[in-house]
Amino acid sequence: MTTFPDGFLWGASTAGHQVEGNNINSDWWAREGKMPGMEPSGDACDSYHRYGEDIDLLADAGLTSYRFSLEWSRIEPKKGQFSNAELAHYRRMIEKCFARGVTPVVTLQHFTTPQWFAEQGGWTSPDALDLFVRYADRATAILDGVEWVVTMNEPNMQAAIMTAMRRMQEQQSEKWQSPTVDGDGDGDGEEKKSHSKFLEYADPEIGRMFVRIHHAARAVLREKTDAKVGWTVAAGALTALPGGEEKLREIRYGKEDVYWEGARGDDFVGVQAYSSQQVDADGLVPHPPHPDNTLVGTAYRPDSLAMAVRHAWEVSGGTPILVTENGIATRDDAQRIRYMEAALAGLGEAMGEGIDVLGYLHWSLLDNYEWGHWEPTFGLIAVDRETFARTPKPSLGWLGGVARTGRI
Ligand code: FCB
Repeated sequence: MTTFPDGFLWGASTAGHQVEGNNINSDWWAREGKMPGMEPSGDACDSYHRYGEDIDLLADAGLTSYRFSLEWSRIEPKKGQFSNAELAHYRRMIEKCFARGVTPVVTLQHFTTPQWFAEQGGWTSPDALDLFVRYADRATAILDGVEWVVTMNEPNMQAAIMTAMRRMQEQQSEKWQSPTVDGDGDGDGEEKKSHSKFLEYADPEIGRMFVRIHHAARAVLREKTDAKVGWTVAAGALTALPGGEEKLREIRYGKEDVYWEGARGDDFVGVQAYSSQQVDADGLVPHPPHPDNTLVGTAYRPDSLAMAVRHAWEVSGGTPILVTENGIATRDDAQRIRYMEAALAGLGEAMGEGIDVLGYLHWSLLDNYEWGHWEPTFGLIAVDRETFARTPKPSLGWLGGVARTGRI
C-alpha cells in the first residue's frame, strides 16, 4: 500500500485553448485550418461557458485541485488593450473553485499567445519579456487568494516547436506535425521517425531566453501576490542505450535541463511526464508500433513519472515538485486506471526516498483538443462534441477515491 501525506493536492489539469472554444485571437487559432492535417479547435469543450459544471464534477468526485490556464489573447486581444471583462471571467473561475473547496493552480500561458504577439516575432522579439511581464502584472489583479501560479507551461516544448518550425520554414515544408501526437501523415513509418527527429533538438539559447522571461514574471508575481510561483517542464524520462550516453546528455540539456536549472529558486516546479524514450548514438530512438502504445503513439510507461520526478529533483537542486501533468491517451478507461495506479505507486516510492512532492494533477479532466487532433482522449470525463454533455469515466471516481483516502 502507498500512502500520501495530508494536504497533498489531488486534481486534474486543463488548458484554455484545449477546452474553452473560440479562442479566436490566438496564434493557434490563426494556424488551425491553414496547415494540412491539422483539425481546428472550434468550440472545443465549451468550457468557457461550462467551467462551473467541470469544477462541480471534479469536486463531486473528491478531487481537491483544478489546474487551468488564462488565455493571454482574450485578456490582451490587441497589443496594450486589456479586457477587464475577460479578467473578471477568470476571477469567476477562481471564485468557483474557492466555493467548492478546490485549490486553483493557475497557468498564465499554456502554449498559445496572442496572434499580434506571434506576428511581431513571438518569444524572440526584442520586447517579448516586457510584454509578457506586463500581461502577468495585469493578471495579478485577479489572483487574490490563489496559492499556486505557473508562469509558463512547458517552455521546453515551446522551444522545441520553435526550433522545428524554423527548420520547417528553411525546408519550406508546411505539413502539420502536432507537438504531442506521433505519426501524423500516411502511416508508412517514416513519420514516426520524423516525429522523433522533429522535436529532438531544442536550441538551449531559446531556453535561456525563456528562463529570463520566467524570472522576470516571477519577480512581479512575488511582489504583488502571495502565490507560490513556478513553471512546468515536459519531462522525457530519457534513458541511454549503450553508446548513447553522450548523446543523451546533449539532447537532454537543450530539451530539459536548462529548464530544470531555471526552476532553482522557484517555490515549486511542475513535472509533466507521460512516457519514456531511449537515446542511442544517433539521437532519439523512434518508438516502434506496439499493442500497448497510447493513442499518441508513445510507449505505455507509467514508470516515467517517478523517473522524471527523480531527474527534476536532482537537476533543479531540490526544488519542491508538483506533478502538474501525467496521463495517457487511451480509449480503454481500465488501462487509464492501471496507468495511474502504477504511476502513483512509483511516485510514492520516489517520495519515500525523500523527494518533496506536493501534489498530483492528472492530465486531463476532460477529453479535449490535443493540439491539432481530436482523437487522442486523455480525459477523466468524456465530452460529446456536438452537445458538450459531460460523462464522467470510472477513472474519475477512482482518482477521487485515492484523493479521499490518501492511499492506493
Ligand atoms: C503536454 C501539454 C498538454 C497536453 C499533454 C498531452 O505536453 O502540456 O497541453 O497536450 O501534453
